[in-house]
Amino acid sequence: DEDYDLGFDFLFKISVIGDAGVGKSNLISRFVSDTFSLDTKSTIGFDICNKIYDLDGFRINLQILDTAGQERFRSTSDFLFRFCAGIILVFDITSKTSFQGLDFWIEEIYKSAPDSAIIFLVSNKHDLANDQGTFVITDEEITHFQEKHPKILKIFKASAKENMGIKETFHELASTIL
Ligand code: GTP
Ligand code: MG
Repeated sequence: DEDYDLGFDFLFKISVIGDAGVGKSNLISRFVSDTFSLDTKSTIGFDICNKIYDLDGFRINLQILDTAGQERFRSTSDFLFRFCAGIILVFDITSKTSFQGLDFWIEEIYKSAPDSAIIFLVSNKHDLANDQGTFVITDEEITHFQEKHPKILKIFKASAKENMGIKETFHELASTIL
């Protein structure tokens, strides 16, 4: 009945973080409503979306926190990570700055995230990486970063534009939390 349809068995809060412009909002809109936009506005503060997700016979309410990358629009990390079960740390595979920005975000995780939080690293915009001559962060650099930060459990390659790697990331994260 209606009550059942609105209900869920578990609620997992997931925070998506990373520098401005790496594609956090578009990764989330792809997952939640299968939409992508070329001219997204910068997120101010944060947005929350919910997606009910069926997993192993359970109805999971994935509560996804789309956070602001721009410094002046950011909320405090205490707030962003409160009660969160999973964190998706995003960078742009074609942007060295966004890769270097991971150092800041990982520090915020060490400072404020629950010890139990499952952390995944996602490189986005892989559609651009196929163009010849485009600068990309190499697999070696990414693996090296993960080795320095064993809290990062898994790494995924994604493109919000081409809808690649996104369902896999959220599915794997929800499965790991469950
Ligand atoms: P903030 O809210 O400011 O932190 O940025 P954000 O991380 O949410 O980035 P957003 O999703 O707003 O995307 C920024 C720009 O990158 C937009 O112009 C998107 O269209 C573009 N973009 C996002 N994902 C992709 C992708 O996979 N490929 C390409 N080519 N462009 C993308
Ligand atoms: Mg955004």
